[in-house]
Amino acid sequence: MSSQIVASVLGADYANLADELAGLVEAGVDAVQWDIMDGHFVPNLTFGADVVASARRVVGVPFEAHLMVEAPERWVASFVEAGCATVIVHAEADRHLHRTLSLIRDLGAHAGVALNPSSPLEAVTGVVDLVDLLVVMTVNPGFGGQSYLTSMEHKVAAARALFDAGGHDIPIEVDGGIKASTIGGAYRAGARRFIAGSAILGHPDGKAAAVAELRAALP
Ligand code: DX5
Repeated sequence: MSSQIVASVLGADYANLADELAGLVEAGVDAVQWDIMDGHFVPNLTFGADVVASARRVVGVPFEAHLMVEAPERWVASFVEAGCATVIVHAEADRHLHRTLSLIRDLGAHAGVALNPSSPLEAVTGVVDLVDLLVVMTVNPGFGGQSYLTSMEHKVAAARALFDAGGHDIPIEVDGGIKASTIGGAYRAGARRFIAGSAILGHPDGKAAAVAELRAALP
């Protein structure tokens, strides 16, 4: 699988969201990730499906919703209807992960599972057949601009080995602290999708330079 740079809009200027999104598309990101936070699963609160649906009307790249919320099964349909091609739920937030992943697929979207830094890979071994994307959190979720947890690279490598052993062509995504100095290590561990928020939105030379810098830093 070719490497995918996915922009998180968590650190965007929401007063100019349409312009920010247009800038991300022009900068050449492969997709946009919406960090959905409920103030319970993580100590932060962000946007709902209506914001995503509005953005869907004016943005031409795929959307993925990262549901950092308790009981995510309640929100899956809303974000698929809002135009997300992929919906990511946290294994830690869902008592019936098998059922929720099946629901995401039944609704026609790709099913993603995210694991917090403290969560073992074993949390997904029972649902590998229902997973279209594994997200290994490389920060503790809730905020952008945090430092990359290099220790998570072992989990990325273990997941790649597990999937390959079972013949599962499941891409691994890393989320948190991804920038030019960290993306290479994540790639070498086995990640092929890279979520970047502050590295793109906060780059002094702009979004296009930031995306080019990330791609240039890939092995
Ligand atoms: C969890 C969020 C952030 C965001 C990326 O807190 O999921 O990881 O997407 O933030 P940066 O790229 O600024 O670390």
